[in-house]
Amino acid sequence: MEVLGQDITGFMPHETAHLIGYVSQQPENSFVADTVEDELAYSLEQLGIAPTEMRHRVREIAQYFGLELLLQTPLTNLSGGQQQRVAVAAAIAAGQKLLLLDEPTSALDAESSAATLDLLRRLSKERGVTILIAEHRIERLLEQVDSVVVVNGDATVSKSTPFDAMHSEDSWFTSRNAKNFPTETTPTSSAVLEIRDLCVTYPNARAIDSVSLKVHSGEILGVVGANGSGKSSLLWAIQGTGLRTSGVVETQLGDPRTMKPAERLALVTLVPQNSSDLLFLSTLGDELNESDAFAKVPTNSTSNIFSALAGRVNPALHPRDLSSGQQLALVLALQLVKNAQIILLDEPTRGLDYVAKQNLARQLSQLKSQGKAILIATHDQEFLSQLADRTLELSAGKFIGEAQ
Ligand SMILES: Nc1ncnc2c1ncn2[C@@H]1O[C@H](COP(=O)(O)OP(=O)(O)O)[C@@H](O)[C@H]1O
Ligand SMILES: [Mg+2]
Repeated sequence: MEVLGQDITGFMPHETAHLIGYVSQQPENSFVADTVEDELAYSLEQLGIAPTEMRHRVREIAQYFGLELLLQTPLTNLSGGQQQRVAVAAAIAAGQKLLLLDEPTSALDAESSAATLDLLRRLSKERGVTILIAEHRIERLLEQVDSVVVVNGDATVSKSTPFDAMHSEDSWFTSRNAKNFPTETTPTSSAVLEIRDLCVTYPNARAIDSVSLKVHSGEILGVVGANGSGKSSLLWAIQGTGLRTSGVVETQLGDPRTMKPAERLALVTLVPQNSSDLLFLSTLGDELNESDAFAKVPTNSTSNIFSALAGRVNPALHPRDLSSGQQLALVLALQLVKNAQIILLDEPTRGLDYVAKQNLARQLSQLKSQGKAILIATHDQEFLSQLADRTLELSAGKFIGEAQ
């Protein structure tokens, strides 16, 4: 394998760090320093760049990336988009000419995603950086990239142009805008869930501000909005535990917030954004079996949902050793098998590949036809456009209208 004319076969990552910048899927987990300045400096320090030169580079790179006013800011106080920018800046601070990014927009809202892609475009044009992006949410990307490599299911690859990729007959891109799934529009039944004047208050913020909403049996409702707009808080408030809320939450069985745990679990299920928090057994197989027993469903029920989403995976693996997409598939299976009437999904496509996403869409449309009420909070408009009966947009804790 050659990079810039140099054979790097068998090299360790630190031996190619001066040539190749890498930004992981969750940059916030890879930061080593506390502030933006220290993070940028650290990546230069690692490459043995002298202190004076280093300070000069940090200033230059901060200006280029629009980070000069954030240099002293703790990384944890940055928005997702800003963190992404710092990660990219750190990755190429030493003049690396090849930049690899793993799903750089999967955790970002539409606006931050577009800004990130603009920035990458600029880097390639102005600084001659070659950029390789691994991504399955290709909609926005196709307009920005010069070529596309499709990694097929059998691990072979085929090269294509963005235009061909978008228009090829048998390509997996073609169904991206199609409504593949039945979406009977007029719900006849009464509301399964009704919220009135719901507020969620944290010690120093009101995350949901007097929101009212009805969701019907057999309805899939999308909730979109920028990072921090309140999507996760809304779902947790409906689920009924762990938050300070006020206002009315009504279901056919009562208010989830005041129910006994067993009743609540049968009524409403939540797949949280940090879904791996729900995995605590030591193998995948244990999680699947335990889940069947807990939900009192036939053997392999959970496993069937899981493999429909993730394919065959060795059940002896530790849940923490699964990929983030597989972990999510597992938590989806654990939660969907409970057969709750109200299903809340927080960013359920994060890290799922195209096939897994289509399988999830299929599962959800099945649940819809069984009369479940499903709420999906996501940045993935593509996914919602296939599936949602309506999509509401949250901004600063209020619904500001229907999206789409
Ligand atoms: N545990 C928490 N403690 C304090 N504030 C929080 C907490 N969780 C979320 N918030 C704040 O509530 C608002 C909404 O956050 P969240 O519901 O996570 O939005 P979203 O899911 O749309 O990104 C944000 O301003 C966020 O900073
Ligand atoms: Mg959220």
